[in-house]
Amino acid sequence: MSTATSTPTLEIRPSDHAASAEERARKMTNPGFGRMFTDHMVVIPYKEGEGWGRGELKAYGPLAMDPASSVLHYGQAIFEGFKAYAQKDGGVATFRPEANARRFQASARRLAMPELPEALFLEAAYALIRQDRAWIPGAIGESLYLRPLMIATEAALGVRPSNEYLFLLIASPSGAYFAQGVKPVTVWISEDYVRAAPGGTGFAKCAGNYAASLVAQRQAKGEGCDQVVWLDAIHRKYIEEMGGMNIFFVYQEKGETVVVTPELTGSLLPGVTRDSLLQLAKDQGFRAEERKISTDEWEAALKEGRMTEAFACGTAAVITPIGRVKSRKGDWLVNGGETGPVAAKLRQVLLDLQHGAAPDPHGWMHRVI
Ligand code: COI
Repeated sequence: MSTATSTPTLEIRPSDHAASAEERARKMTNPGFGRMFTDHMVVIPYKEGEGWGRGELKAYGPLAMDPASSVLHYGQAIFEGFKAYAQKDGGVATFRPEANARRFQASARRLAMPELPEALFLEAAYALIRQDRAWIPGAIGESLYLRPLMIATEAALGVRPSNEYLFLLIASPSGAYFAQGVKPVTVWISEDYVRAAPGGTGFAKCAGNYAASLVAQRQAKGEGCDQVVWLDAIHRKYIEEMGGMNIFFVYQEKGETVVVTPELTGSLLPGVTRDSLLQLAKDQGFRAEERKISTDEWEAALKEGRMTEAFACGTAAVITPIGRVKSRKGDWLVNGGETGPVAAKLRQVLLDLQHGAAPDPHGWMHRVI
């Protein structure tokens, strides 16, 4: 566990209309995901030729934007998601925030946007967490979800990278991502749409990836499913992701538990939870593999009983078991539609670590308070 040191370059201007303790308590009962926001936000402007300007932590509120701002037309917008967790000893820590800072830089490069220095990303996060610590829920599985984002703000309609940007950081007390909690989901394998193609933006956390996914998500709902499963754009047979999350499969092979996730090809998001679970699976004595897995293999391995579980993972929803798979070709149950022991175990191990209830052998936790 490392401890955050602060070199304040942000101007701290506390809100004069912060929520009362009663209002906060009411909002934080059953928080769900991303429905309410804390009292403050961080804003840091960028101008080509001048670099990053003086940042401010100030009252949360609407932005005034020129309607010609290029983000509104050409979509230069990236974001991240990570969490601050109440610790067993009463403190607060974040989980691998530097990994999110680096992925934010990788997303910025792909979208021809400026890179926010890692130190500034972390400083903004720690300042907001400290300022709004009263909004951090205490229960296991609950946390303060931090949402950094960057948008192009130059008022210009030429199709070229903007010369002005705004970095923003907002925070939201969060509980379960899916309304049904951590119950297994039913997924629809999308054959009509692809999420990302080689050379595209699949590895970047850019707003456009999510916008383009919504019609497939709606189709999945129409098929009676909770989420969409994406296939690769070339062969249309290798599994890439589930909704906005990475995906894992669990095999039992000759007495060994093998945890498999699709390899990173450039069109998948390199998830921080994905990377962490590969390590935690090994720590549990499981074999962990990154490789291609096709829909045919998924179906055959389930039918032959070699595959015992499937689950999705991400910062927001942690681990979400997959109970049923549907496509135009058919319908398969996974683990009888129930949460399996490997998904349950990995979820518990990850949450214990994040809440300081278990040792942190990989140095992933960053103490903020
Ligand atoms: C996450 O798991 O943090 C995600 O990226 C999903 C988010 C878009 C809600």
